[in-house]
Amino acid sequence: MTSQLLSDIPLLRGPVPLSHLIIRSFLFEGDKAVDATCGNGHDTLLLTELAGSTGHVWGFDIQEEAIAETGRRVSDAGLTGRVTLIHAGHEEMEQHVNGPVKAVLFNLGYLPGSDHQVITRPETTGIALDQSLKLLAPSGIVMVSVYPGHGGGACERRIVDGWAARLEPQEYHSWRMGQVNVMSDAPYCILVQKTA
Ligand SMILES: C[S@@+](CC[C@H](N)C(=O)[O-])C[C@H]1O[C@@H](n2cnc3c(N)ncnc32)[C@H](O)[C@@H]1O
Repeated sequence: MTSQLLSDIPLLRGPVPLSHLIIRSFLFEGDKAVDATCGNGHDTLLLTELAGSTGHVWGFDIQEEAIAETGRRVSDAGLTGRVTLIHAGHEEMEQHVNGPVKAVLFNLGYLPGSDHQVITRPETTGIALDQSLKLLAPSGIVMVSVYPGHGGGACERRIVDGWAARLEPQEYHSWRMGQVNVMSDAPYCILVQKTA
């Protein structure tokens, strides 16, 4: 019987560990990916590690401190050359990213430990989600962690859910994944996979 260290097993509290678990099944050496909301750089680092030395990751954030923190995190891991960090909104993704990419990750809301007034906005999130689809490789995914509980989050939830629900089922597999034993405004994941 094989044994697994308890620390190796992810605790699935909220959307982020679930999104990481899924990303690990889709992103491999040589792939390209986008972190649409760098924040503190945790997601960028994971994407960069998975894409490996022959892959590439583009990371976006509107806050200079988020770009700086993400740069530090990637640099500390010795992976600087594998990432292009862009201090701009993800709604400009198309202008910067050289696709096709296997994964686009959105972690919406505000940067923990920072100004909670600086949040992702429904208008620009909608534009960026549409651009993500244009950049996706066949079988590639867009993974969105949605936080309806903060001010502005309810409106953003409607935009993201509506976007995912309207996609043609022949062209995209569209999923909603959330914990059911929590408040109705708890965070959840939207996952969209391009079929071909
Ligand atoms: C929840 S945090 C992201 C957490 C991050 N992925 C991590 O691993 O730490 C959301 C981030 O989105 C950023 N943001 C807000 N509007 C944005 C936009 N239009 N384009 C890109 N980033 C944006 C915020 O500045 C904030 O850093």
